[in-house]
Amino acid sequence: MQKKIEEIKQKALELISEANSPEKIQETRVKFLGKKGELTALLKSMKDVDPAMRPQIGAWVNQARAQIEKQMELAGEEMKAKMLKQRLAAETIDVTLPGKAPKQGHLHPNEIALREVERIFIGLGYEVVSGPEVEYDEYNFEKLNIPKGHPARDEQDTFYINSNIVLRTQTSSVQARIMEQGKLPIRIISPGRVFRSDAVDATHSPSFHQIEGLLIDEKSSFSDLKGTLEVFAKELFGENTKTKFRPHHFPFTEPSAEMDVSCFKCGGKGCRFCKGEGWIEILGCGMVHPHVLEMCGLDPEKYSGFACGVGLERIALLKYEIDDMRLLYENDMRFLEQF
Ligand code: DAH
Repeated sequence: MQKKIEEIKQKALELISEANSPEKIQETRVKFLGKKGELTALLKSMKDVDPAMRPQIGAWVNQARAQIEKQMELAGEEMKAKMLKQRLAAETIDVTLPGKAPKQGHLHPNEIALREVERIFIGLGYEVVSGPEVEYDEYNFEKLNIPKGHPARDEQDTFYINSNIVLRTQTSSVQARIMEQGKLPIRIISPGRVFRSDAVDATHSPSFHQIEGLLIDEKSSFSDLKGTLEVFAKELFGENTKTKFRPHHFPFTEPSAEMDVSCFKCGGKGCRFCKGEGWIEILGCGMVHPHVLEMCGLDPEKYSGFACGVGLERIALLKYEIDDMRLLYENDMRFLEQF
Protein backbone atom coordinates (compact mmCIF):
# COMPACT_ATOMS: atom_id res chain seq x y z
CA MET A 1 0.00 0.00 0.00
CA GLN A 2 2.76 2.34 0.90
CA LYS A 3 4.36 1.70 -2.46
CA LYS A 4 1.14 2.44 -4.25
CA ILE A 5 0.77 5.73 -2.41
CA GLU A 6 4.37 6.59 -3.24
CA GLU A 7 3.75 5.80 -6.91
CA ILE A 8 0.68 8.02 -7.06
CA LYS A 9 2.60 10.80 -5.32
CA GLN A 10 5.52 10.55 -7.76
CA LYS A 11 3.19 10.58 -10.74
CA ALA A 12 1.47 13.69 -9.38
CA LEU A 13 4.72 15.51 -8.64
CA GLU A 14 5.99 14.68 -12.11
CA LEU A 15 2.87 16.08 -13.74
CA ILE A 16 3.17 19.22 -11.61
CA SER A 17 6.77 19.76 -12.63
CA GLU A 18 5.77 19.38 -16.28
CA ALA A 19 2.77 21.71 -16.01
CA ASN A 20 3.18 24.92 -17.95
CA SER A 21 -0.09 26.67 -17.10
CA PRO A 22 -2.39 27.13 -14.11
CA GLU A 23 -4.97 25.07 -15.99
CA LYS A 24 -2.62 22.10 -16.14
CA ILE A 25 -2.05 22.32 -12.38
CA GLN A 26 -5.77 22.45 -11.80
CA GLU A 27 -6.18 19.37 -13.98
CA THR A 28 -3.60 17.56 -11.85
CA ARG A 29 -5.43 18.61 -8.67
CA VAL A 30 -8.67 17.11 -9.99
CA LYS A 31 -6.91 13.97 -11.23
CA PHE A 32 -5.32 13.15 -7.86
CA LEU A 33 -7.03 15.07 -5.07
CA GLY A 34 -10.51 15.64 -6.54
CA LYS A 35 -13.64 13.72 -5.50
CA LYS A 36 -12.85 11.08 -8.06
CA GLY A 37 -9.10 11.57 -7.80
CA GLU A 38 -6.65 8.70 -7.45
CA LEU A 39 -5.60 9.52 -3.89
CA THR A 40 -9.19 10.09 -2.83
CA ALA A 41 -10.05 6.70 -4.30
CA LEU A 42 -7.42 5.15 -2.04
CA LEU A 43 -9.00 6.65 1.04
CA LYS A 44 -12.38 5.39 -0.09
CA SER A 45 -10.99 1.87 -0.37
CA MET A 46 -9.94 1.91 3.31
CA LYS A 47 -12.99 -0.11 4.25
CA ASP A 48 -11.34 -3.13 2.65
CA VAL A 49 -8.19 -2.63 4.74
CA ASP A 50 -7.34 -4.28 8.02
CA PRO A 51 -8.66 -1.84 10.70
CA ALA A 52 -5.34 -1.97 12.50
CA MET A 53 -3.56 -0.62 9.46
CA ARG A 54 -6.05 2.15 8.76
CA PRO A 55 -4.45 4.93 10.88
CA GLN A 56 -1.06 4.21 9.30
CA ILE A 57 -2.40 4.25 5.75
CA GLY A 58 -4.45 7.34 6.50
CA ALA A 59 -1.28 9.09 7.68
CA TRP A 60 0.60 8.08 4.50
CA VAL A 61 -2.19 9.33 2.27
CA ASN A 62 -2.40 12.63 4.15
CA GLN A 63 1.36 13.04 3.93
CA ALA A 64 1.32 12.43 0.20
CA ARG A 65 -1.62 14.79 -0.18
CA ALA A 66 0.18 17.52 1.78
CA GLN A 67 3.30 17.12 -0.37
CA ILE A 68 1.34 17.26 -3.57
CA GLU A 69 -0.55 20.36 -2.41
CA LYS A 70 2.63 22.06 -1.31
CA GLN A 71 4.25 21.33 -4.67
CA MET A 72 1.22 22.67 -6.49
CA GLU A 73 1.33 25.86 -4.51
CA LEU A 74 5.03 26.35 -5.23
CA ALA A 75 4.59 25.64 -8.93
CA GLY A 76 1.61 28.02 -9.07
CA GLU A 77 3.60 30.84 -7.51
CA GLU A 78 6.57 30.21 -9.75
CA MET A 79 4.31 30.26 -12.74
CA LYS A 80 2.67 33.53 -11.67
CA ALA A 81 6.05 35.18 -11.20
CA LYS A 82 7.21 33.94 -14.59
CA MET A 83 4.05 35.20 -16.30
CA LEU A 84 4.36 38.61 -14.66
CA LYS A 85 7.95 38.87 -15.83
CA GLN A 86 6.96 37.94 -19.38
CA ARG A 87 4.14 40.49 -19.37
CA LEU A 88 6.37 43.25 -18.09
CA ALA A 89 8.91 42.47 -20.79
CA ALA A 90 6.26 42.44 -23.52
CA GLU A 91 4.63 45.67 -22.40
CA THR A 92 7.75 47.70 -21.93
CA ILE A 93 7.37 51.28 -23.18
CA ASP A 94 10.44 52.99 -24.49
CA VAL A 95 9.90 56.51 -23.19
CA THR A 96 12.97 57.71 -25.07
CA LEU A 97 11.40 57.06 -28.52
CA PRO A 98 10.60 60.32 -30.35
CA GLY A 99 6.85 61.12 -30.30
CA LYS A 100 4.59 61.58 -33.31
CA ALA A 101 4.17 65.30 -33.89
CA PRO A 102 0.46 66.14 -34.08
CA LYS A 103 -0.59 67.36 -37.52
CA GLN A 104 -1.52 70.98 -37.21
CA GLY A 105 -3.74 72.74 -39.71
CA HIS A 106 -3.48 76.37 -40.67
CA LEU A 107 -5.65 79.17 -41.93
CA HIS A 108 -7.15 79.11 -45.41
CA PRO A 109 -5.89 81.94 -47.68
CA ASN A 110 -9.41 83.44 -47.63
CA GLU A 111 -9.31 83.53 -43.84
CA ILE A 112 -5.84 85.06 -43.79
CA ALA A 113 -7.02 87.81 -46.16
CA LEU A 114 -10.20 88.36 -44.12
CA ARG A 115 -8.27 88.77 -40.87
CA GLU A 116 -6.01 91.27 -42.57
CA VAL A 117 -8.98 93.36 -43.77
CA GLU A 118 -10.62 93.14 -40.34
CA ARG A 119 -7.39 94.21 -38.65
CA ILE A 120 -7.20 97.33 -40.83
CA PHE A 121 -10.82 98.42 -40.29
CA ILE A 122 -10.81 97.63 -36.58
CA GLY A 123 -7.76 99.89 -36.38
CA LEU A 124 -9.88 102.64 -37.94
CA GLY A 125 -12.56 102.21 -35.28
CA TYR A 126 -14.93 99.90 -37.18
CA GLU A 127 -16.87 97.03 -35.66
CA VAL A 128 -17.25 93.61 -37.33
CA VAL A 129 -20.89 92.46 -37.62
CA SER A 130 -22.64 89.69 -39.50
CA GLY A 131 -25.99 89.17 -41.16
CA PRO A 132 -28.01 86.20 -42.42
CA GLU A 133 -27.08 84.37 -45.62
CA VAL A 134 -30.73 83.43 -46.18
CA GLU A 135 -32.21 86.88 -46.52
CA TYR A 136 -35.44 88.69 -47.25
CA ASP A 137 -35.73 90.14 -50.74
CA GLU A 138 -36.52 93.37 -48.92
CA TYR A 139 -33.03 93.68 -47.37
CA ASN A 140 -31.08 92.22 -50.28
CA PHE A 141 -32.82 94.32 -52.94
CA GLU A 142 -35.79 96.56 -52.06
CA LYS A 143 -34.21 98.68 -49.33
CA LEU A 144 -31.08 99.07 -51.44
CA ASN A 145 -33.02 100.82 -54.19
CA ILE A 146 -33.39 97.69 -56.27
CA PRO A 147 -37.16 97.23 -56.61
CA LYS A 148 -38.73 94.30 -58.44
CA GLY A 149 -38.07 94.58 -62.17
CA HIS A 150 -34.92 96.70 -61.70
CA PRO A 151 -32.22 95.72 -64.23
CA ALA A 152 -29.63 95.32 -61.42
CA ARG A 153 -31.53 92.18 -60.42
CA ASP A 154 -30.45 90.53 -63.67
CA GLU A 155 -26.77 90.86 -62.78
CA GLN A 156 -27.42 89.40 -59.36
CA ASP A 157 -29.69 86.49 -60.17
CA THR A 158 -29.74 84.16 -57.21
CA PHE A 159 -31.39 81.17 -55.58
CA TYR A 160 -34.92 81.84 -54.38
CA ILE A 161 -36.30 80.08 -51.32
CA ASN A 162 -39.68 81.63 -52.18
CA SER A 163 -40.69 84.93 -53.77
CA ASN A 164 -39.74 86.86 -50.59
CA ILE A 165 -36.65 85.00 -49.42
CA VAL A 166 -33.36 84.57 -51.28
CA LEU A 167 -29.80 83.47 -50.72
CA ARG A 168 -28.27 86.94 -50.42
CA THR A 169 -26.37 88.18 -53.47
CA GLN A 170 -24.39 90.84 -51.60
CA THR A 171 -23.36 91.70 -48.07
CA SER A 172 -24.92 95.13 -48.74
CA SER A 173 -28.04 93.55 -47.22
CA VAL A 174 -26.42 94.06 -43.81
CA GLN A 175 -26.34 97.84 -44.45
CA ALA A 176 -30.14 98.01 -44.35
CA ARG A 177 -30.35 95.82 -41.25
CA ILE A 178 -27.84 97.93 -39.32
CA MET A 179 -29.30 101.29 -40.35
CA GLU A 180 -32.75 100.10 -39.33
CA GLN A 181 -31.51 99.51 -35.78
CA GLY A 182 -30.98 103.29 -35.64
CA LYS A 183 -27.89 103.27 -33.39
CA LEU A 184 -25.71 106.09 -34.66
CA PRO A 185 -23.06 106.82 -35.65
CA ILE A 186 -22.49 103.60 -37.62
CA ARG A 187 -19.05 102.29 -38.41
CA ILE A 188 -19.16 98.62 -39.38
CA ILE A 189 -17.72 96.08 -41.71
CA SER A 190 -19.62 92.90 -42.44
CA PRO A 191 -17.90 89.93 -44.01
CA GLY A 192 -19.79 86.90 -45.23
CA ARG A 193 -20.84 84.42 -47.85
CA VAL A 194 -22.95 85.53 -50.82
CA PHE A 195 -24.59 83.59 -53.65
CA ARG A 196 -25.32 84.09 -57.32
CA SER A 197 -26.52 81.70 -59.98
CA ASP A 198 -23.19 81.87 -61.81
CA ALA A 199 -21.40 78.94 -63.41
CA VAL A 200 -17.98 78.06 -62.01
CA ASP A 201 -14.94 79.35 -63.88
CA ALA A 202 -11.57 80.94 -63.02
CA THR A 203 -13.22 84.15 -61.76
CA HIS A 204 -16.79 83.07 -60.86
CA SER A 205 -18.43 80.81 -58.33
CA PRO A 206 -22.08 80.40 -57.25
CA SER A 207 -20.90 81.07 -53.71
CA PHE A 208 -18.16 83.49 -52.70
CA HIS A 209 -17.45 86.09 -50.01
CA GLN A 210 -17.73 89.84 -49.72
CA ILE A 211 -16.87 92.37 -47.07
CA GLU A 212 -19.21 95.32 -46.75
CA GLY A 213 -18.19 98.59 -45.16
CA LEU A 214 -20.60 101.26 -43.92
CA LEU A 215 -20.17 104.56 -42.17
CA ILE A 216 -23.09 106.84 -41.28
CA ASP A 217 -22.71 110.03 -39.29
CA GLU A 218 -23.93 113.59 -39.14
CA LYS A 219 -20.96 114.87 -41.07
CA SER A 220 -19.36 112.66 -43.64
CA SER A 221 -18.27 113.36 -47.17
CA PHE A 222 -16.79 111.78 -50.24
CA SER A 223 -13.34 112.85 -49.02
CA ASP A 224 -13.86 110.73 -45.90
CA LEU A 225 -14.63 107.81 -48.18
CA LYS A 226 -11.51 108.45 -50.26
CA GLY A 227 -9.26 108.91 -47.25
CA THR A 228 -10.54 105.78 -45.55
CA LEU A 229 -10.21 103.58 -48.61
CA GLU A 230 -6.79 104.97 -49.40
CA VAL A 231 -5.54 103.99 -45.94
CA PHE A 232 -7.12 100.59 -46.46
CA ALA A 233 -5.35 100.10 -49.82
CA LYS A 234 -1.95 101.19 -48.50
CA GLU A 235 -2.23 98.93 -45.46
CA LEU A 236 -3.27 95.98 -47.57
CA PHE A 237 -0.97 96.34 -50.58
CA GLY A 238 1.91 98.47 -49.28
CA GLU A 239 2.86 102.09 -48.56
CA ASN A 240 3.50 103.00 -52.19
CA THR A 241 0.08 101.96 -53.42
CA LYS A 242 -1.84 104.66 -55.28
CA THR A 243 -5.60 104.71 -55.60
CA LYS A 244 -7.89 105.88 -58.40
CA PHE A 245 -11.65 106.41 -58.21
CA ARG A 246 -13.60 105.87 -61.43
CA PRO A 247 -17.25 106.96 -61.64
CA HIS A 248 -19.58 103.99 -61.67
CA HIS A 249 -23.20 103.19 -60.90
CA PHE A 250 -24.66 101.29 -57.98
CA PRO A 251 -28.37 101.67 -57.19
CA PHE A 252 -27.81 102.25 -53.45
CA THR A 253 -25.05 104.87 -53.62
CA GLU A 254 -24.89 108.31 -55.23
CA PRO A 255 -22.35 109.26 -56.37
CA SER A 256 -20.79 105.82 -56.88
CA ALA A 257 -17.31 104.79 -57.86
CA GLU A 258 -15.01 101.86 -58.35
CA MET A 259 -11.61 102.06 -56.75
CA ASP A 260 -8.50 100.85 -58.54
CA VAL A 261 -5.12 100.38 -56.88
CA SER A 262 -1.80 100.79 -58.67
CA CYS A 263 -0.41 97.36 -59.54
CA PHE A 264 1.72 96.28 -56.59
CA LYS A 265 3.64 93.92 -58.87
CA CYS A 266 4.96 96.48 -61.40
CA GLY A 267 4.24 99.67 -59.47
CA GLY A 268 1.95 100.94 -62.23
CA LYS A 269 4.16 100.50 -65.29
CA GLY A 270 2.02 97.68 -66.66
CA CYS A 271 2.75 93.97 -66.47
CA ARG A 272 1.19 90.58 -67.08
CA PHE A 273 -0.36 90.68 -63.61
CA CYS A 274 -2.37 93.90 -64.24
CA LYS A 275 -2.84 92.99 -67.91
CA GLY A 276 -0.71 95.93 -68.95
CA GLU A 277 -3.05 98.42 -67.28
CA GLY A 278 -0.90 99.44 -64.33
CA TRP A 279 -4.13 99.46 -62.26
CA ILE A 280 -6.21 96.74 -60.62
CA GLU A 281 -9.92 97.14 -59.81
CA ILE A 282 -10.49 96.37 -56.18
CA LEU A 283 -13.89 97.50 -54.88
CA GLY A 284 -17.16 99.36 -55.36
CA CYS A 285 -18.10 102.32 -53.20
CA GLY A 286 -20.15 105.47 -52.93
CA MET A 287 -22.14 107.83 -50.74
CA VAL A 288 -25.24 106.09 -49.36
CA HIS A 289 -28.24 107.13 -51.46
CA PRO A 290 -30.63 109.47 -49.57
CA HIS A 291 -33.55 107.26 -50.57
CA VAL A 292 -31.81 104.25 -48.99
CA LEU A 293 -31.28 106.22 -45.77
CA GLU A 294 -34.94 107.13 -45.79
CA MET A 295 -36.15 103.56 -46.44
CA CYS A 296 -34.01 102.43 -43.52
CA GLY A 297 -35.53 105.02 -41.19
CA LEU A 298 -32.76 107.65 -41.17
CA ASP A 299 -33.25 111.34 -41.96
CA PRO A 300 -31.16 112.15 -45.08
CA GLU A 301 -31.18 115.83 -44.07
CA LYS A 302 -29.35 114.94 -40.88
CA TYR A 303 -27.30 111.89 -41.77
CA SER A 304 -25.02 110.91 -44.59
CA GLY A 305 -22.39 108.27 -45.06
CA PHE A 306 -20.47 106.03 -47.36
CA ALA A 307 -20.40 102.36 -48.18
CA CYS A 308 -18.06 100.00 -49.91
CA GLY A 309 -18.06 96.40 -50.96
CA VAL A 310 -15.03 94.26 -51.65
CA GLY A 311 -14.70 90.66 -52.82
CA LEU A 312 -12.73 88.60 -50.34
CA GLU A 313 -11.57 86.05 -52.93
CA ARG A 314 -10.40 88.91 -55.14
CA ILE A 315 -8.17 90.17 -52.33
CA ALA A 316 -6.83 86.69 -51.58
CA LEU A 317 -6.14 86.00 -55.29
CA LEU A 318 -4.32 89.31 -55.68
CA LYS A 319 -2.37 89.14 -52.47
CA TYR A 320 -1.12 85.63 -53.09
CA GLU A 321 -0.93 85.93 -56.88
CA ILE A 322 -3.29 83.05 -57.52
CA ASP A 323 -4.75 83.03 -61.02
CA ASP A 324 -7.72 80.70 -60.58
CA MET A 325 -10.44 81.16 -57.97
CA ARG A 326 -11.33 77.46 -58.10
CA LEU A 327 -8.08 76.65 -56.30
CA LEU A 328 -9.51 78.32 -53.21
CA TYR A 329 -12.38 75.81 -53.01
CA GLU A 330 -10.88 72.55 -54.18
CA ASN A 331 -9.18 71.71 -50.87
CA ASP A 332 -6.11 70.38 -52.61
CA MET A 333 -3.56 70.14 -49.82
CA ARG A 334 -0.65 70.67 -52.22
CA PHE A 335 -2.10 74.11 -52.93
CA LEU A 336 -3.31 75.01 -49.44
CA GLU A 337 -0.09 74.05 -47.69
CA GLN A 338 1.73 76.89 -49.42
CA PHE A 339 0.13 79.54 -47.23
N1 DAH B 1 -22.83 95.07 -53.42
C1 DAH B 1 -22.05 95.43 -54.58
C2 DAH B 1 -21.89 94.21 -55.46
O1 DAH B 1 -22.04 93.11 -54.98
C3 DAH B 1 -20.69 95.96 -54.16
C4 DAH B 1 -20.80 97.34 -53.59
C5 DAH B 1 -20.66 98.41 -54.38
C6 DAH B 1 -21.04 97.52 -52.24
C7 DAH B 1 -20.77 99.70 -53.89
C8 DAH B 1 -21.13 98.80 -51.71
C9 DAH B 1 -20.99 99.86 -52.55
O2 DAH B 1 -21.38 99.03 -50.44
O3 DAH B 1 -21.10 101.12 -52.04
O4 DAH B 1 -21.58 94.34 -56.59
